[in-house]
Amino acid sequence: MNQIPDALYSDQENTTWVIVGASRGIGLEFVRQLLAREERIIATVRETNADHASALWGQAGGDHGRCQMFICDILSEASIVNFVTQLVAIPNLKIDYVVLNAGVLRYPNRATETSFDEFAFHLHTNTIGPIITAQKLLQTSIPIGTIVFMSSDSGSAGNFREVEDGFAAYAASKAALNQALRHMAAELRRKDDDTIILAMHPGEVATDMSNINVPWEIEGVITPEQSVTAMIDVIQSKGIQHSGTFWTWQNQVSQPSTGRGNL
Ligand SMILES: NC(=O)c1ccc[n+]([C@@H]2O[C@H](COP(=O)([O-])OP(=O)(O)OC[C@H]3O[C@@H](n4cnc5c(N)ncnc54)[C@H](OP(=O)(O)O)[C@@H]3O)[C@@H](O)[C@H]2O)c1
Repeated sequence: MNQIPDALYSDQENTTWVIVGASRGIGLEFVRQLLAREERIIATVRETNADHASALWGQAGGDHGRCQMFICDILSEASIVNFVTQLVAIPNLKIDYVVLNAGVLRYPNRATETSFDEFAFHLHTNTIGPIITAQKLLQTSIPIGTIVFMSSDSGSAGNFREVEDGFAAYAASKAALNQALRHMAAELRRKDDDTIILAMHPGEVATDMSNINVPWEIEGVITPEQSVTAMIDVIQSKGIQHSGTFWTWQNQVSQPSTGRGNL
């Protein structure tokens, strides 16, 4: 699976991105755009032999040297640890940006109807998996510039979206993610660790996840290309003073009342 000699990683000049959940949708678009920008990418999928993983290689084209594919299932601690262990084995690796993009939405997931298991599934995938993946990466000696969590405006505590009938477990999982990453940023500050922690809302993006019939009108649907082009600029514009804050793809805070990202 590892397509290039590790020696390539001793060159520290290029920017290296880790995209977790790169098989389709927003994650795959990150890989496509970063390849076009000549960046180096470590992309994860759940299954390398599935059709969607082949699509990732299709995006990499003949230049697999800048895009390495690894397996990581964020529902499994063993899979997360195995992935991070493989990164630790890469000599001189430094990571500029980690995008924890993997997420699920099983619609509908109403608080009055959803099962224990369905609720747990959203929390395990959208909250616990991303936070533990970040934690395991931070516990290595790999230098990491910025960790971006793909959140959602559905999880904004400051801007409750009452119209979103059927989104209770999903919204709760993203709200919990927001609060946990905020603590992560505060803990890192106390340890004088200057890794930047960000939450992002990618917009209303036309992907498999959003391909559901909801009874309200979704305004301003954008393509993965539009979302990712904008998000790369937003991510790269943030410094350590922004750690623990929440930004939209349009570089706005979730609710612009405090001047900082309102989680
Ligand atoms: N689309 C939107 O409008 C929108 C809005 C707000 C927030 N978001 C957030 O943006 C992120 C990407 O969404 P999307 O629209 O691109 O969704 P998508 O097209 O459904 O893609 C979801 C991605 O997450 C991966 N994934 C799911 N469970 C995983 C697991 N246990 N371990 C590893 N990877 C896993 C999927 O891999 P497989 O192919 O293996 O399933 C896939 O690559 C999500 O976190 C979502 O909540 C999206």
